[in-house]
Amino acid sequence: MILGIEGSPRNKGNSHKMLTAVLAGAQEAGTMSHEVHLRDYKYEPCVGCERCRKAKACTQFKDGMTLLYPHIEQAQGLVLISPVHNYNVTAWVKAFLDRMYCYYDFTDTRPRGWASRLAGQGKKAVIGAIAEQAEKKDMGFTLDAMRLPLEAFGYEVVTELPVLRLFDRGIIAQHEEHLERARYAGRDLAAAISA
Ligand SMILES: Cc1cc2nc3c(=O)[nH]c(=O)nc-3n(C[C@H](O)[C@H](O)[C@H](O)COP(=O)(O)O)c2cc1C
Repeated sequence: MILGIEGSPRNKGNSHKMLTAVLAGAQEAGTMSHEVHLRDYKYEPCVGCERCRKAKACTQFKDGMTLLYPHIEQAQGLVLISPVHNYNVTAWVKAFLDRMYCYYDFTDTRPRGWASRLAGQGKKAVIGAIAEQAEKKDMGFTLDAMRLPLEAFGYEVVTELPVLRLFDRGIIAQHEEHLERARYAGRDLAAAISA
């Protein structure tokens, strides 16, 4: 099972359509997916209460993330796509990643050693970022802001999909080259998690 997530505020925007293409590729390869648009979920950013340290789950909030945690745990594959907002992921994606903090086990040393309970399960990820500007540098930290935490949580990032020069809502639909690359990424992810 693949969990596909995008974090754009725009319904039917470029991230939405890229996600649909990645999941279509996975479907062609025979892998089921669950599609999530973070704007449809109401959830708080992590408040650093550290209650999850003992509880091994987020007990501070019962919100949209409560619905997503079981999917995160069950899915062998994760697709995470964000438009570039101010050189970074959107606030929805950042809050989503921060709320995965409850998957860490920490030691009592300072600085605290840590290990992710999602690690060691062969979980794989595809990440994508969509920017209006023309140069890779205009994406700023967007791909790093997804890859670094996902690797820390124990995912192997198998494909990165940076897309430049797209501004209008859903204009990616007119760029078959981007959609084809996205479908390939979905097929590859399906193959990687079934290997
Ligand atoms: C608040 C905001 C900040 C943005 N910041 C950037 C940026 O730093 N660099 C860039 O190239 N595009 C930036 N953009 C443009 C979007 O990345 C671009 O329109 C993208 O296609 C939106 O994807 P979506 O349809 O999935 O939302 C920004 C757009 C918004 C609304």
